Amino acid sequence: MAAERVIHKGLDGVVVTENALTFIDGLAGKLMYRGYLIHDLAEHSSYEEVVWLLLNRELPTPAELAAFKVELAAQRAIPEGVVKLLRSLPGQANPMAALRTAVSLLSLSDAEADDNSDEANRRKAMRLIARIATIVAAFDRLRDGKEPVEPDPELSHAANFLYMLTGREPDARAARVFDVCLVLHADHEMNASTFSARVTASTLSDIYSAITSAIGTLKGSLHGGANSEVMKMILEIGSADRAERWIQDALASKRRVMGFGHRVYKTEDPRATVLRRMARELAEKQGDTDWFEISRTIESEVREQKGLFPNVDFYSASTYYMLGIKIDLFTPIFALSRIAGWTANLLEQYADNRLIRPDSEYIGPQERPYVPLAAR
Ligand code: COA
Repeated sequence: MAAERVIHKGLDGVVVTENALTFIDGLAGKLMYRGYLIHDLAEHSSYEEVVWLLLNRELPTPAELAAFKVELAAQRAIPEGVVKLLRSLPGQANPMAALRTAVSLLSLSDAEADDNSDEANRRKAMRLIARIATIVAAFDRLRDGKEPVEPDPELSHAANFLYMLTGREPDARAARVFDVCLVLHADHEMNASTFSARVTASTLSDIYSAITSAIGTLKGSLHGGANSEVMKMILEIGSADRAERWIQDALASKRRVMGFGHRVYKTEDPRATVLRRMARELAEKQGDTDWFEISRTIESEVREQKGLFPNVDFYSASTYYMLGIKIDLFTPIFALSRIAGWTANLLEQYADNRLIRPDSEYIGPQERPYVPLAAR
């Protein structure tokens, strides 16, 4: 007798591969990159350190980190053709769609685009990590009728992005808050966009195609798109005293409250803990705690009514907002951090590849005779 085929809708609980990058304990609310707790990395490391860790397995020595920063910064400029493309896009284009298209175009000016060797893929990973930030910032300036700002190799990845966005060097606090945000978003085990990147690579397609798939997947509101939806919700609610009623109505009409719930965490997402603290500190320092107060009320209401905890997208929303970043850039910012995790996962995938090709249970009509067009 044939074994019963079990359908795991949404691939819930299905283990598709091994990974040596990121471990999540969803019950304990723990997240580690290569064995290091996210709280420790958020407190002590920088995005560049985390990128090195993800790509090279160990934390860098001071000399390695210094050389890596220089190497990464040297890759920031984007080809003229990509700038031309960004100039030609309609001003109201979705920035994630713009990023997806620009990354796809990047491949056309990379002589190594179709070289799937580990050495070439590492070089391309560096270029992608450095350039996605430049693309996001350039797109934003061009749609505002401003010229892109040349990257500054003296600045960190985080500070340089804020500089390219505004044309002004950020203060140390803003740069550090943004750096921690990048650290927190850098990798997250087999999330949907990482999975789609791996699926594309598993056909032995190239790294740019895989990242283009990942960006398209991250764009959705159940994944990376949730952070901008969170901010729209906070602005729509407008004041803390309206939050309770708003959430009650939303849940009563079976709407999802963005920034809550998670496939893996059954307790608080540890990244949300760090982001809540940073959002509070930023709000207090800026003397404007409105967004934070609304967020807190939403959080306690969703917790009370649905037993759901905030995920990474909830407090990152008000944090970015307080840094003065436009709402529709929140998800591209997720991408400019997650590119580290995507490329590190792709190196693993190419190193031990098997075509990812699941099955599905057919529920359509049984075999039947073809009816000629004239007889229908
Ligand atoms: N708001 C309201 N209800 C939610 C919810 C949310 N944010 N997240 C989950 N639920 C409810 C679902 O309605 C469902 O209830 P039901 O069993 O009564 O139908 C139950 O919890 C399980 O949800 P399900 O969609 O099956 O879980 P999942 O593991 O497939 O989905 C998410 C996980 C992240 C997609 C889901 O929690 C969600 O949609 N969150 C909001 C979007 C978001 O913040 N995404 C970013 C994730 S980092």
